[in-house]
Amino acid sequence: MESLQVHFLSRLVEPAALRGSTCVIIDVLRATTTIAFALEAGAKEVIPCLEVDDARRCAASLNAGTFMLGGERGGKKIDGFDLGNSPDEYTPQLVGGKTLVFTTTNGTRAMLHAGEADTILLAALVNVEAVTRALLRHAKVDILCAGTDGEISRDDVLTAGAIVDQLLGAVEGLKVNDEAEIAADEWRAATAYGLVECLRVSRGGRNLVELGLDNDIRAAAELSRLDVVPIFKNSRITRLVAAS
Ligand code: MLT
Repeated sequence: MESLQVHFLSRLVEPAALRGSTCVIIDVLRATTTIAFALEAGAKEVIPCLEVDDARRCAASLNAGTFMLGGERGGKKIDGFDLGNSPDEYTPQLVGGKTLVFTTTNGTRAMLHAGEADTILLAALVNVEAVTRALLRHAKVDILCAGTDGEISRDDVLTAGAIVDQLLGAVEGLKVNDEAEIAADEWRAATAYGLVECLRVSRGGRNLVELGLDNDIRAAAELSRLDVVPIFKNSRITRLVAAS
């Protein structure tokens, strides 16, 4: 790896600027965390959709019994959907072997924004180590934070910082931008202060606390619990296999 750039908000990066790069999307509360859980639970693939109606149309084109509709608006399960956006809803019993049609407010938008990147991976705290390992094979990496409701969100920034911190330790002479340095500082401060508490007071975390979804924050803070790297390719998110 030669260069690592962090962008605190995905929409501040022109999609064309991501050509030739490996892009890592972070929406730790909760889209990328939940997708990592879903793949770990055996979901066959995840199809991210921008709008609720896109998701409904996509689901209508699939065979009954082969898919689940999941996601949120305003943090809540969408009318007529099978699942919301809480990681623990995505159990092997419910999603094993299924296609997941998925839409969230910021996370899926950020994924689709990165469409021109060479490779698109999804990161959260639960898979930070697995993602970092996978990134070592890539020369130019851009980390895009999804943010919350169009604003920078500390939860995503500190997750980006966890990746930066590991990569700075692993790659000599790695070139990073100022946002990467700031993110790494935020991560170090969060580990000293308490990760769950830092997530709770972040923009994304405050929304979840208001909705009584504290369990989701705790699930999202389980550092490197999962050995799964979601990769978004050909409109689908699947599990990256080690050799690819
Ligand atoms: C999003 O994509 O905006 C988030 O996942 C929001 C949420 O979890 O409620």
